[in-house]
Amino acid sequence: MDKPKVVLGVSGGIAAYKACELLRRLTESGHDVRVVPTASSLHFVGEATWSALSGHPVSTEVWDSVHEVPHVRIGQSADLVVVAPATADTLARAAHGLADDLLTNTLLTARCPVVFAPAMHTEMWEHPATRENVATLRRRGAVVIEPAVGRLTGVDTGKGRLPDPAEIFEVCRRVLARGPKGVEQDLAGLHVLVSAGGTREPLDPVRFLGNRSSGKQGYALARSAVARGARVTLISANAELPDPAGADVVRVGTALQLREAVLKAAGEADVVVMAAAVADFRPERYAAGKIKKKDGEEPAPVALVRNPDVLAEISVTRARPGQLVVGFAAETDDVLANGRAKLLRKGCDLLVVNEVGDHKAFGSGRNEAVVLGSDGSETPVPYGPKEDLADTVWDLVAGRIS
Ligand code: CTP
Repeated sequence: MDKPKVVLGVSGGIAAYKACELLRRLTESGHDVRVVPTASSLHFVGEATWSALSGHPVSTEVWDSVHEVPHVRIGQSADLVVVAPATADTLARAAHGLADDLLTNTLLTARCPVVFAPAMHTEMWEHPATRENVATLRRRGAVVIEPAVGRLTGVDTGKGRLPDPAEIFEVCRRVLARGPKGVEQDLAGLHVLVSAGGTREPLDPVRFLGNRSSGKQGYALARSAVARGARVTLISANAELPDPAGADVVRVGTALQLREAVLKAAGEADVVVMAAAVADFRPERYAAGKIKKKDGEEPAPVALVRNPDVLAEISVTRARPGQLVVGFAAETDDVLANGRAKLLRKGCDLLVVNEVGDHKAFGSGRNEAVVLGSDGSETPVPYGPKEDLADTVWDLVAGRIS
């Protein structure tokens, strides 16, 4: 089988050096990559680097190898175009359909999905001109990944940093995995809220009651949603995973903190997916000092109190009209019967029911589930990567929200 063809556009920002890592990940995972840098990006990374890493000749202009008609061929034959970093200037030229170099010609001839990973100073990102250009590109079906917040060039920090190349690679992988459907951004214009990970309920400064959720399923949901064009807020409870590119990540520890963060963000969300494993109980009392054992004495029992059920609460309140709520259910016995009862009890629209056990679901990258709908539907998802389950959830959401 032919390798998927990817065009990596690189524009002139300091983050151009990070595109080398993206290129390496793409080639090592079996993609045929043509790098198309802008002339100004060559101030940051030279042609020789791109050529050596991609194994292809590199040009910025349409006037090289004219007999091969590169200004149309490269775009026409691509399965994916990713521009990383995308500067304010490149976004503007793309939004206005200019064709003044090989990259912009490629963007005009490409009929495949296009991903932009912008990187620039916060002021440039927030400028109304850039906002409008980004909105135009998104409206036309491009995935424009929200930049990360952090250190920028020089002493500045803020929004505008290129996300981790490994995470931009994940977006590319998800977009490519959707095949021709990747050109449709079926979650574009939607704001989705995903909770992930497992809450921890502290007993004392060194101990907590926790659970085995790794956060992988929730992070896979966040990544898929970014690749399908959604604005994503990820409420992450103790997950030790890198921030998905493009998602706004809010970190929480306990169930009460998670509830507060979810309720705060739910007001703006079209869809809420509660993938987090929320502790049902918390210790009644928090000991400010470490609980010590005493020789000859049995340990004092730990009194627990109930935590609020966040999923049930948001399902009842529905912070926005038409908001869709998705829950997860981890069951060890009578999986489907318990799932159905839980769907009714919680009042959500979809419930992803999976069987958990010693080697199932928790911590692994794979999962098997049945998605139950409040309309009586039942969608089995065979054992496979958590990304596939994530895409099935978004397929079902997209079908219900349009
Ligand atoms: N959930 C929640 N708040 C809680 C407990 C759970 O929002 N205090 C959410 C989870 O995020 C998940 C769903 O409820 O989406 C189901 O969680 P699960 O642990 O399977 O169900 P429980 O309500 O805890 O029911 P049980 O313990 O009886 O199985």
